[in-house]
Amino acid sequence: MKIGFIGAGNMGGAIIKGLRNADPAAIIYVYTPHPEKLEQLKEEYGVIPQKTIADLAHKSDNIVLAVKPNKIDEVLAEVKEALGDKATEKLYISIAAAITISHMQGIVGGDAKIIRIMPNTPVLVNEGMSSISPGQGVSDEELKLVKDVFDGVGKTVVVPEDMIHAVISVSGSSPAYTYMYINALIENGVKQGITEESAKELAVQAVRGAAKMVLETGVDPLILRDNVCSKGGTTIEAVHVLEDEDFMGIVDKAADATSNRSKELTV
Ligand SMILES: NC(=O)c1ccc[n+]([C@@H]2O[C@H](COP(=O)([O-])OP(=O)(O)OC[C@H]3O[C@@H](n4cnc5c(N)ncnc54)[C@H](OP(=O)(O)O)[C@@H]3O)[C@@H](O)[C@H]2O)c1
Repeated sequence: MKIGFIGAGNMGGAIIKGLRNADPAAIIYVYTPHPEKLEQLKEEYGVIPQKTIADLAHKSDNIVLAVKPNKIDEVLAEVKEALGDKATEKLYISIAAAITISHMQGIVGGDAKIIRIMPNTPVLVNEGMSSISPGQGVSDEELKLVKDVFDGVGKTVVVPEDMIHAVISVSGSSPAYTYMYINALIENGVKQGITEESAKELAVQAVRGAAKMVLETGVDPLILRDNVCSKGGTTIEAVHVLEDEDFMGIVDKAADATSNRSKELTV
């Protein structure tokens, strides 16, 4: 596989790491504006630094766009300028939020093969959740190649492009809401006198264990909740407070706010 990364910050760097683990033989080209970053990636993951986007575009069959959304237009314009009509022979893999496949095709060429990915930050610890939305003309083989890359840093699900807003609510932005929940548990533990270190360990492992229960038992989360609640016990008291305060309604509202903003930002 010959794959080129334009941009290698938080997300790009994590994906390169996962790809190198999953496919030691992959030929990975990278361009970012800072040469010292390229040297570091060369040492750590054996990538081949490129001096320009044009060099990278000529050599790569697959081009990962891992720059901030506001850089996508200029980066794709450089690729198009370098490759001309041949630009549509490449497969483009974009992780940029809010930039549609049709917008990118408007720059590279109408029949360019583009896959949009919506990862989340846990890709940094190999526990990411990424959605994959293939545009028109993408083959099953190309889809599998991209799936393998992102499976290397977590899990993947294939969704139509217009479902990306929902993905952002449920997995893209939700680590932030989950961190708030974990933080609230830690603060409560500290308030009751446990050390911060212990409170953190208790809260984080409880959240991880609960997620694993949902994952591995396959039981509906609300049934798992009910299974923890015995009549007259402790947990039911918390559940009543959360229900009275409409905990699930608040999460739903927050998730809607995320996808509404995603729709506003999308071009
Ligand atoms: N972070 C998230 O949770 C998340 C989730 C889903 C999707 N995304 C998407 O992931 C993309 C990257 O985000 P990030 O958090 O990895 O950003 P980042 O850490 O700022 O990385 C951006 C990379 O792009 C490089 N770059 C800047 N200008 C460039 C140019 N003109 N040509 C080529 N490379 C250039 C930067 O290089 P220098 O550092 O050398 O300037 C850096 O390597 C964004 O489009 C974002 O929407 C992020």
